[in-house]
Amino acid sequence: MNQSPASQSPATGSPANRTPASQSPASQSPADRRPTNRRRFLAEVAAVSAVLPAALSSPAAASARAPIRSAPAPRLPAPPPRGPRDESWWEQIRAHFSFAEEKVPMNAANLCPSPRAVAERVEELTRDVDRDCSSNNRAKFRGLTEASRAAVAEQLGVGADEIAIVRNTSEANNTVNNGLPLAAGDEVVIWDQNHPTNNVAWDVRAARFGIVVRRVATPARPTTPQQLIDPFTRALTDRTRVLAITHVSNVSGVRLPVRELARAARARGIHLHLDGAQSWGALDVDLRALGCDSYTASAHKWFMGPKEAGILYVREDRIPAIWPNTVAPGWGSDADPDVRGARKFESLGQRDDACLAAVGTAAGFHATIGPGEIETRVADLATTLKEGIAELGLTLVTPLDPELSGGVCIAEVPGDRSTALRRLYEEHGIAGAGTGGLRLCPHIYNTRDHVARAIEGVRALRGVILG
Ligand SMILES: Cc1ncc(COP(=O)(O)O)c(C=O)c1O
Repeated sequence: MNQSPASQSPATGSPANRTPASQSPASQSPADRRPTNRRRFLAEVAAVSAVLPAALSSPAAASARAPIRSAPAPRLPAPPPRGPRDESWWEQIRAHFSFAEEKVPMNAANLCPSPRAVAERVEELTRDVDRDCSSNNRAKFRGLTEASRAAVAEQLGVGADEIAIVRNTSEANNTVNNGLPLAAGDEVVIWDQNHPTNNVAWDVRAARFGIVVRRVATPARPTTPQQLIDPFTRALTDRTRVLAITHVSNVSGVRLPVRELARAARARGIHLHLDGAQSWGALDVDLRALGCDSYTASAHKWFMGPKEAGILYVREDRIPAIWPNTVAPGWGSDADPDVRGARKFESLGQRDDACLAAVGTAAGFHATIGPGEIETRVADLATTLKEGIAELGLTLVTPLDPELSGGVCIAEVPGDRSTALRRLYEEHGIAGAGTGGLRLCPHIYNTRDHVARAIEGVRALRGVILG
């Protein structure tokens, strides 16, 4: 068989399906393991940061000299000794991104720029492969991919064997959709705000196999978590096998109360699938605490990682039940995968190994800042933006309350949406989107000045937006 060692997952001879629970982090409670793991991880990141050369400020020199390391973290400015991180600290974070002040990205729900450290890592490793694409040289990628997996798993509070590094949320959603064993008549309850890959994809499955898809609508302007829980719990029946929802909607910005919904699903033996495309990298996500059975996300969105990388988390005891979409070299020689745990979902043939390795660099970037700090900053910028827009007389689609929202901010556009978006970009240098209305998604690379400019742009275009 002509397979690339670089793209194979390590064979263990002991499929995850048979991993004893006692060896798994899943057997520890989140309270037991996560803070300790996180502290240890942050300490490791700090140690790596300390030995990194000034490479990050000198990309060309760095790529020529730097050894190929495992998941390096960029050197970042230290926080002030006391008190919250101030605006000047966030401006230093912004300086890690190469976009021009005249073309400010505010569309994290779609695609984010990567910090230089991530982009340079992709370039560096891609050049390394082009210089020597032997299996010998590429053997190191196995360890680098594993380092990425471990870093991502630590941040999400789960075991590395529960994470597959796939291509994006779309692929991961479809793996769950196609792979869960369902029979004709089984019901799948979905949110009507799900992305097509977690919505129409279920209709396609229903057309093929006769499952029943039930769409749940939630109130347009929710004011309490309970208003978002009740419609779902009312829809669950003794035929429901799957509850497939979205952490934060890309079309409304509404954030679902996942813990409560997962508890309701678990009590009925229902698989809870969570699309986290709008939460990974924006919120401080603890998957064990959320209680979902599977979770999907894209590295190129809020995680600010390399393009065309994503994750599929499947809880350890659910992995054996879910079939893979693709079987390729590295899987093994029979139906029982040789690879451990969720790695069976990344059986995809030759991968972009530089990209997989750079997922670890992005995880290091997040760890250096702190996922909690990032969530607070995103909420802060989003609240300022939403309040500013509301004061101009626009109607918010997204709740103001951070408990009911994330970083996705949407306002209604009764007027000319495409003209408003074009002029916001051309005349005010703010790149938003038209999904669900006027959608602006500020992230940590945005400064308060960017948010103020966005509000000013909306003020100037108020007539176009309101029609
Ligand atoms: C909620 C949600 N799910 C899935 C996706 C698909 O993401 P990707 O195109 O990275 O696969 C998106 C993209 O915007 C999304 O918002």
